[in-house]
Amino acid sequence: MKAMNPAQVALQELQNHGVSKQRIDFLIAHSHSVITTFQEPNGALPASPTFSAYKGYAWLRDGAFTSEGLSRFGDVVNVNRYHDWVSGVLTARRGQVDELIAKNRRGEEVPVSEMLPTRFTFEGMDGSDPWWDFQTDGYGMWIWAATTHATRHGVDLAKWRTGLEVAFDFAAEFWERNCYDWWEEHIDQTHGSTLGALFAGFEAIGNGGVLDTARSARAQELAKAVQTYLLENAVTTGRATDPIAPHLAKWVGNPAVDASLAACITPFHAISGESELAVNTIDAIERDLSFNFGVHRFAADVFFGGGQWLLLSCLVGWNKAAAGDIKGAAAYFAWVTQQALENGDMPEQVPGHLLHADHQQRWIDKWGTVATPLLWSHGMFLILADELGLISKEN
Ligand code: BGC
Repeated sequence: MKAMNPAQVALQELQNHGVSKQRIDFLIAHSHSVITTFQEPNGALPASPTFSAYKGYAWLRDGAFTSEGLSRFGDVVNVNRYHDWVSGVLTARRGQVDELIAKNRRGEEVPVSEMLPTRFTFEGMDGSDPWWDFQTDGYGMWIWAATTHATRHGVDLAKWRTGLEVAFDFAAEFWERNCYDWWEEHIDQTHGSTLGALFAGFEAIGNGGVLDTARSARAQELAKAVQTYLLENAVTTGRATDPIAPHLAKWVGNPAVDASLAACITPFHAISGESELAVNTIDAIERDLSFNFGVHRFAADVFFGGGQWLLLSCLVGWNKAAAGDIKGAAAYFAWVTQQALENGDMPEQVPGHLLHADHQQRWIDKWGTVATPLLWSHGMFLILADELGLISKEN
């Protein structure tokens, strides 16, 4: 009997979970449509067009994964438009970054309020609403996303050179400084998944062939330095209650696991997927944070009661697929398809299994119901669909 290819294995597993091929095809097409419908005329990708606290803003973190999903779908034109927008926004920040670097090198204190923001208005400005600005991960991620897309589709990366230089110079100068994490919390810590994203950016641009020789060499050195720092510091050493050790740590000195750490393995490759550290990290995430294939951010999460995030189920599924476990990946994918609304829209999180239910109402009162659609959820869905071989190559 002929062995089944990954797409056939995935489809069979999806069928076992009661998910039809027709529904998958619909959700793939709908995800592309949601992302491109809400993409701004100038190329910016909003995080969520209707959610009160995100309305009017584009995050580099969300955009990196959303554009990667679109790139895998095959929509080269709209992904190019996104990277054109980021590159333009960052190029306009050249002077600001030069000043930040000069100040830092003079040994003066650079306040967080002067740093490049975490999220931009669609015109490329800082927001006027207070936010947890200063997160370096997005700068590494944008570099990673632009280079990955350019390599995949044969796009000339040099068209984004000036923006890439700004992102690189900023990340290179400040990577050692503590900042807010992926979830915009704990500015006083060094976060494992922030380091993973910085590694990915340095590694990609160090070998990207578009920066000058000095910057390229520095990027290669920094990739090594970040990786070494991660391996030496953001790793658990084991405790009586935790037989899974070593695994990557939420932050240096905090032995908890955070689902975003999976990105250090796939797609950022800061650690090899075959290493004991990688296997243990995914095991710890599944043990502590995955409930019936819906993945929580971290055990202490109280945001909207601490529900399960579609984009994190996709991230864990992506890691499973990369490790060759197509059936395991398909189980996560199935769960995600089942969380989409009837019309196909995907929320940021769902409340079926809340870690801290007593906090849910407080957030609904503050910001309204959970962000839906969240473009990052749709982007991650496209990525995992592609990993499972479910996206038609005719797009
Ligand atoms: C999340 C961030 C995300 C932002 C926009 C926040 O609630 O913690 O990771 O970038 O929403 O989607």
